[in-house]
Amino acid sequence: MTRMIDTTTSAVPSAGDTPLLKVCDLRVEFSSSSGRVHAVNGVSFELQPHELLGIVGESGCGKSVTSLAILRLLAKPAGRVVGGQVEFDGTDLLGLDDDDMRDLRGRQVAMIFQDPMTSLNPVTTIGEQLTEVVRSHTKMSRQAAEKRALETLELVGLPNAKARLKDFPHQFSGGMRQRVMIAMALILGPKLLIADEPTTALDVTIQAQILDLIARVARETGAAVMLITHDLGVVAGMTQRIQVMYAGQIVETAATDELFAHPRHPYTVGLLRSIPRLDDGGSRELIPIDGLPPDLTRLPPGCPFAPRCAWAIERCLAENPSLTVPGTAQAAADLPLGTHVAACWNPATDEEARAGMPASGHISAVSAAAQTRAAQAAVALGGQE
Ligand SMILES: Nc1ncnc2c1ncn2[C@@H]1O[C@H](COP(=O)(O)OP(=O)(O)OP(=O)(O)O)[C@@H](O)[C@H]1O
Ligand code: SF4
Ligand SMILES: [Mg+2]
Repeated sequence: MTRMIDTTTSAVPSAGDTPLLKVCDLRVEFSSSSGRVHAVNGVSFELQPHELLGIVGESGCGKSVTSLAILRLLAKPAGRVVGGQVEFDGTDLLGLDDDDMRDLRGRQVAMIFQDPMTSLNPVTTIGEQLTEVVRSHTKMSRQAAEKRALETLELVGLPNAKARLKDFPHQFSGGMRQRVMIAMALILGPKLLIADEPTTALDVTIQAQILDLIARVARETGAAVMLITHDLGVVAGMTQRIQVMYAGQIVETAATDELFAHPRHPYTVGLLRSIPRLDDGGSRELIPIDGLPPDLTRLPPGCPFAPRCAWAIERCLAENPSLTVPGTAQAAADLPLGTHVAACWNPATDEEARAGMPASGHISAVSAAAQTRAAQAAVALGGQE
């Protein structure tokens, strides 16, 4: 999506006593023919009730796997959680039995996927599908469930909702089907809505409508939202806070307006330079990030972004940085929610972020050497398998 970015957002909610979601040091691996895929590597974050959080990063960085692990929906037997904890509203999700987890998934946490057609039953009317969701999770009568179905379709702005209850999924346009999916996700009043690339399959004008709809229904129902996307343009203006992921790790997190104004991690700087923005008149050249993400079966010992990073210094090759206040050793875990933190030994300054390169105006000798050696190390690691 190439929506121009407006970064006006509301403030990050202050941390309450109990976060709605608390993820600690989550690690997920897949077995594959080319080895063990380290898909999520020590992800920790909290989400407050009613908060709108964006999770952003290039394809394959672990956004979907993180949310599937939280919901215990990883592809089995290849995918498994190999470490960490997930608490939802005070409940340990990784320890919950399958029946309780299934009930929680429908009732308290709901997910919207990219392609609504794969989640809707093609041979059953929309009305029956919505009613069935209510009846399978509650003791509501058929009549009350049908009333709830109609109210929810009206909430998501489906025109002529009463008549459309009798229609089948193929009778809806892509945008209207996504509205039906949002209704399906919201019908039980979940506390958390996880939307994984909810607009990628839609055309641009419909994308904006669906994003506005998700923000509005979240406000009206009080649900918190985790919005997953590879596109910073999608989360700008809609989320209060953003987490940037790279190679299965969170590499930067801040309030949305702060992240856009003062990106510190070189990867975030690169992401921001690759999208159009309203605040520079839209005339700037869009520059994609050079290089490819690392092979997750052979992660290097240092920072996984080093082979692509103009800011790289010697330390980056040996040690993978953890999240701290940029330029200090203050660890993210000790700081209030919403504090700007980045995992980087040599974070960008404002001036460097604007220029898209380190202060010297070109890649330093150390950085060039570091990048070459990081790339060589990655190749050598590959050869060991
Ligand atoms: N079933 C699987 N078997 C092996 N590896 C997998 C499997 N599912 C995901 N992975 C790997 O886990 C990593 C993270 O995948 P994930 O789907 O979370 O990426 P993503 O950030 O959601 O990307 P996208 O933007 O393309 O949706 C990828 O490298 C992917 O190849
Ligand atoms: S400066 Fe170093 S730690 Fe920071 S992103 Fe670049 S390679 Fe990673
Ligand atoms: Mg994904």
